Amino acid sequence: MIAEILLGTALATSVAALSLVSLKLYIKLSTGMCHSQVCLVGKTAIVTGANTGIGYETALDFAKRGARVILACRDETKAKEAYNKIIAETSNSNIVYKLVDLTSFDSVRKFAHDINANEDRLDILVNNAGAGRLGNKTTVDGISITMQTNYFSHFLLTILLLDLMKKYPSRIVNVSAIGAKLGRIDFAKLTSFTNESNQYITSKLCQILFTIELANRLKNTNITAYSLHPGVIKTEIFRNMSPAIRWIILFLIDTFFKTATEGAQTQIYCAIENGLEKYSGQHFHDCKMVKRYKSADDPALAKKLWEESERICKVNGVSYN
Ligand SMILES: NC(=O)c1ccc[n+]([C@@H]2O[C@H](COP(=O)([O-])OP(=O)(O)OC[C@H]3O[C@@H](n4cnc5c(N)ncnc54)[C@H](OP(=O)(O)O)[C@@H]3O)[C@@H](O)[C@H]2O)c1
Repeated sequence: MIAEILLGTALATSVAALSLVSLKLYIKLSTGMCHSQVCLVGKTAIVTGANTGIGYETALDFAKRGARVILACRDETKAKEAYNKIIAETSNSNIVYKLVDLTSFDSVRKFAHDINANEDRLDILVNNAGAGRLGNKTTVDGISITMQTNYFSHFLLTILLLDLMKKYPSRIVNVSAIGAKLGRIDFAKLTSFTNESNQYITSKLCQILFTIELANRLKNTNITAYSLHPGVIKTEIFRNMSPAIRWIILFLIDTFFKTATEGAQTQIYCAIENGLEKYSGQHFHDCKMVKRYKSADDPALAKKLWEESERICKVNGVSYN
């Protein structure tokens, strides 16, 4: 009897261990990597939130390829640290950092003004910065902090940089998340706080809808746009969770999911892979184009969100041709 129990326990443990190893193997094998050899010498790229996480890894990759990389960060100390690390690792000294706080339209406008005044080209814009669990806070512009950080400020920044980007073939990459599948746009509450997880997934759904309409409006230009889900990645994005929950999540991610280098691959791919122009407006995951989530597969919704975003961000008279 005891022998049977021991045998049963050993079997169950082996099946569990085998399942976990298979899961880990499956995730590792399906992790898309960008194998492009594209050189970025002579090109300029901006990455928002480039001081840490997948933004840092994206900036590092562009720097290795020889690009002029502008690290768009809100914290000077962190920005400087990332800047020093990237130069030390790549020997590319054509790296700069500039400050922008996405919780303020004024800061975004100042940043864009600086770029337009001082850069003669912009080939890649990666709207990467993001945050979750920011609570029921309202920005100086009277908008829910999560919606402004993750979506509205990137919308405004993009619009303000379009004329510069039109000078040469260029790409805009909007970082979303798979949670956008569960998102729903309520125009009556677009700028106000609803609840923590709803705010995050709505902002990420907005990033996809924004990409769809952006690609549509830019179809007669040489700018293309892409959205993506980067995967589940061990970064600082979970910093605002309670320590116990954060520990469990990071342990699981560490064991089964992506490193920051792996997590950056899809946005690097969307920014540089040759021949993606015909897929402008599409959504990517693991360095592959994927079917649009049902929640985002609605051009009329994308158009309406665009019009509301123009009104909220106070952008008028922009020519999209
Ligand atoms: N990690 C994941 O599993 C995962 C999954 C799906 C999607 N994503 C998306 O991937 C993107 C990058 O996230 P990550 O995982 O790399 O997270 P992260 O390590 O927390 O990096 C986020 C970056 O955004 C910056 N940021 C936050 N608020 C800002 C503000 N108000 N103004 C300017 N910069 C701001 C942060 O700057 P500070 O360091 O100064 O705060 C940091 O550089 C985000 O859009 C996130 O939603 C991540």
